[in-house]
Amino acid sequence: MPHRQKLKLGVLVSGNGTNLQAIIEACEEGHIDARVDVVISNNPDAFALERAKKHNIATAVVSKENSESKIIEILKQHQVELVCLAGFMKLLSTQFVREFPQKIINIHPALLPSFPGLHAQQRALDAGVKFTGATVHFVDEGCDTGPIIVQATVPVLHDDTIETLKERILKEEHKIYPEAIQLIATQRLKIVGRRVIFA
Ligand code: GAR
Repeated sequence: MPHRQKLKLGVLVSGNGTNLQAIIEACEEGHIDARVDVVISNNPDAFALERAKKHNIATAVVSKENSESKIIEILKQHQVELVCLAGFMKLLSTQFVREFPQKIINIHPALLPSFPGLHAQQRALDAGVKFTGATVHFVDEGCDTGPIIVQATVPVLHDDTIETLKERILKEEHKIYPEAIQLIATQRLKIVGRRVIFA
């Protein structure tokens, strides 16, 4: 197989970092043509930071107000080519999004455009939907509104609790996030209006 250039990723996190872990493993196992160059957290206690350190990946904590310019600076220092939001629980400003046009992606625990924003799994449970899922999408200036790259459906079972549903959705997240990154790394995507077309 020809050796491809690896896409340089910057991953933004706030919490546990299971999606980060899935991305790191996909990179290390050679399933995707990418590598995680830096992990940035807005939460100093995020377990995601420990996961990154264990894999010798550079980390930064940027938790003060007006910290976006610092995040931009770090991403640029590392010459990051794709910014991956992985459980990053802070809305990015228009200025930030414009700094990396079509180069920021996010994972959301629902089938967008249903249940954007916070507590997506609980809201799906409360709404009584029979299927929910996960979405990887480009980040635009809205909240979870950018063009959709990959989705996976997840059934909601009659005896689901918030914990069991979250867990079932996370399993799918861990598959589709690396998949979406690989589609970008291999330049197989084109954004046409709101649609992402596979070449
Ligand atoms: C994931 O379920 C992710 O989809 C969600 O936070 C969790 C992070 O888990 N993100 C959002 O709700 C963003 N609006 P992780 O830290 O274990 O990857």
